[in-house]
Amino acid sequence: MDPDAKKQALRGITYGLYVISTADGDDVNAFAGNWVTQTSFDPPLVALGVKQGTTSQELIARGGVFAVNVLEAGQKDLAAKFFKPVRRVGNKFEDVDFTTGETGAPILADALRFFECRVVDTLERGDHWIYVGEVVNAGVQRDGAPLTLGETGWSYGG
Ligand SMILES: Cc1cc2nc3c(=O)[nH]c(=O)nc-3n(C[C@H](O)[C@H](O)[C@H](O)COP(=O)(O)O)c2cc1C
Repeated sequence: MDPDAKKQALRGITYGLYVISTADGDDVNAFAGNWVTQTSFDPPLVALGVKQGTTSQELIARGGVFAVNVLEAGQKDLAAKFFKPVRRVGNKFEDVDFTTGETGAPILADALRFFECRVVDTLERGDHWIYVGEVVNAGVQRDGAPLTLGETGWSYGG
């Protein structure tokens, strides 16, 4: 296989960019990720690819829940705050306010929409593990067009 063709071909997958949060009791975390897709209407299922060994991966494994925060077009600076480990102080990650969802996962106050999932399956293969979650709660906080990975100029894939 031609490695450059593999990289370019895989980078042909188009994505959004989300803040994915998780919780186990009072322990919460969030990271920015693009490897998110719906996989079933009924029941409503979503799959994530999560880097093995990160704080978020270990917390999703322990707590069994995650929330996907849908950001608005133009909110790339907000996403960028979650490319590195974040520190929680009260109901904030650094200067980012959140509320607590039904699953305990943080919901960013400035997200457009969110959905919360309970993990129903895990596939521990490769350097990112797949978590399949059933959507158990969702909300629309305001109108707007979702952030796409393409508009940020960043890529994660290949
Ligand atoms: C553009 C971009 C997209 C990313 N997408 C993912 C992703 O889909 N899954 C993932 O596990 N990490 C992804 N990352 C890396 C995480 O944001 C990063 O590893 C983060 O520090 C993990 O947070 P944690 O260590 O607090 O769990 C992405 C990074 C960038 C720059």
